[in-house]
Amino acid sequence: MCGIFAYTGKQQALPILLDGLTCLEYRGYDSAGIYIPESGVVKSVGAVDNLKKKIVLPMPGNSGIAHLRWATHGEPTEENAHPHSDSSETIWIVHNGIIENYKELKEMLLTKGCTFYSSTDTEVLAKLIGYYMEEKKDFEKSVLAALNDTKGTYGMVASYKNEPNKIIAARQGAPVVIGLGNGENFVASDVSPILRHTKDVIYLLDGDVAVLTPNNHTIYNLQNISIDRKTEIIEWDIEEAKKGEYAHFMLKEIMEGAEVVENTIRGRLIVDEGIAKLGGLDAVAEQIRTKKRIIIVGCGTAYYAGLVAEYMIEEFVGMPVEVEVGSEFRYRKPIIDQDTIVLAVTQSGETADTLEAIREGKRKGALTLGIVNTVGSTISRETDAGIYNHAGPEIGVASTKAFISQLTALALLTLFLGRQRGMSSSTGKMIAEEIKKLPQKIKEILDKKEEIQKIAKKYANSRDFLFMGRKYNYAIAFEGALKLKECSYIHAEGYGAGEMKHGPLAMIDENFPTFAIVPNDSVYEKNISNIQEIRARKGKVIVLTNEDNEEIRDMSDDIFIVPKTVEMLSPILNIIPLQLFAYYFAIERGLNVDRPRNLAKSVTVE
Ligand code: M6R
Repeated sequence: MCGIFAYTGKQQALPILLDGLTCLEYRGYDSAGIYIPESGVVKSVGAVDNLKKKIVLPMPGNSGIAHLRWATHGEPTEENAHPHSDSSETIWIVHNGIIENYKELKEMLLTKGCTFYSSTDTEVLAKLIGYYMEEKKDFEKSVLAALNDTKGTYGMVASYKNEPNKIIAARQGAPVVIGLGNGENFVASDVSPILRHTKDVIYLLDGDVAVLTPNNHTIYNLQNISIDRKTEIIEWDIEEAKKGEYAHFMLKEIMEGAEVVENTIRGRLIVDEGIAKLGGLDAVAEQIRTKKRIIIVGCGTAYYAGLVAEYMIEEFVGMPVEVEVGSEFRYRKPIIDQDTIVLAVTQSGETADTLEAIREGKRKGALTLGIVNTVGSTISRETDAGIYNHAGPEIGVASTKAFISQLTALALLTLFLGRQRGMSSSTGKMIAEEIKKLPQKIKEILDKKEEIQKIAKKYANSRDFLFMGRKYNYAIAFEGALKLKECSYIHAEGYGAGEMKHGPLAMIDENFPTFAIVPNDSVYEKNISNIQEIRARKGKVIVLTNEDNEEIRDMSDDIFIVPKTVEMLSPILNIIPLQLFAYYFAIERGLNVDRPRNLAKSVTVE
């Protein structure tokens, strides 16, 4: 959701703030705004380019705050754009999250004579800080007092005209990272805009309030008691967060597929012994051995990774697995006990519903684990143990390389659990060998990307699309459809091939093409029958398979062949052509794939 960024130091703040916003653009692009105490505020609807056009130079000043909005309260208008100010227009804040009690706070402030210019909850917090300022005459104390009155979630930064070098950041339920530079300090929603300045960061925890000046940082809790937070060093390279030679992050990240798998398995696969060595699980390995079931929780793409894992773990480990979207899990009464593992799958490590699911699991005594890409993220810290993806920063809103890495990490987990529970060493070796071969096979697929581009071009005028798969590739049908939906805004459905006759077949005609995921596996023949049924209704079929024979070529309007692998790993190869298809399809339609409308990269509100 929204991106926040702030700077205090010796340099001119404006270019640093704009650069920071550009890095964070994937978090929201409904509106953008900056405030520099010495120069004032500028806001615009839309993304950073619009903001740049509105700025009248010079805008001097060595500190400032900046924001990109993904609208929750109020439409994406200039009035609703951040920063928002108190009544004296000397205190300005940027905010990511939702102030849940904003209505009652607003009513109270209205009785005190405040006027509101926006329909945001953020303006209420800004006015509340100003209200306390009248009484306390102290910036820090006023921010603290206002935060103590606030219910809900925030990652926020405040700036005060009369103390221009001081910025105050606070966190409750939405991520805030502090970057520690030499004579300069930074605040951001995630590390990507900080990396180009420093690799030393502090992740604020819920309830933390940080006061930053160019040469100092102090952290308090909401009771104003000073606390220590560890400085961590970020391993990600700044180049990883840039587009490089690619037109879009999405394409860059798909093209990183082979490298991503290599990074996910590096040092973790002992092929000769057929085992996975997962250092992040060492401390809880014996606890894991005693657990009886696993609940996997994730949202969107991460949820689909969980669905694939259900097949892997049940087949090769023999442990019951349930998979659930975080937003459902947290609102029912899931049966969780001390024999349960709750496993979160998440790229950002900040998804609100997944995080709450983990907290619920903890409350009920489960062992909580995470498969997380973002080092230091909330879920990585709140789970008992976990596996980092090491996929590098994923900037494209449509998750691609993270999904490939999640599936790889889940395959490693399957091997780890299986070998704990009686999987033979020969089966272990077979899986390990096949995992090791994946990067090369991914390269072979990526080398043929123009074939997919051609197919995407041919179908780019379609208004509907069906994705169909079975067993291990059941979830890949959903994920293929999700990618097309979010990048192209067209109607795309993912279906289990066996379900076709139970309803979806009725939609099929010559204008409703199907992408059929049909590897030559234990359900190949069944899938072939489903393709015939579609063709009998004049439906066009693009076949995605690892089998190149006359029969399958005859029954496909278009075909894409991927290399062979074992059934459980086939989703890792099959998803890549579908990601490329969604990319090229959207490009054909002239859409900005890195910034799909209405979406943001990280969903930190419920
Ligand atoms: O950061 P997370 O993996 O927890 O995010 C979960 C979903 O929001 C995410 O996968 C979303 O569905 C993507 N935009 C899909 O491409």
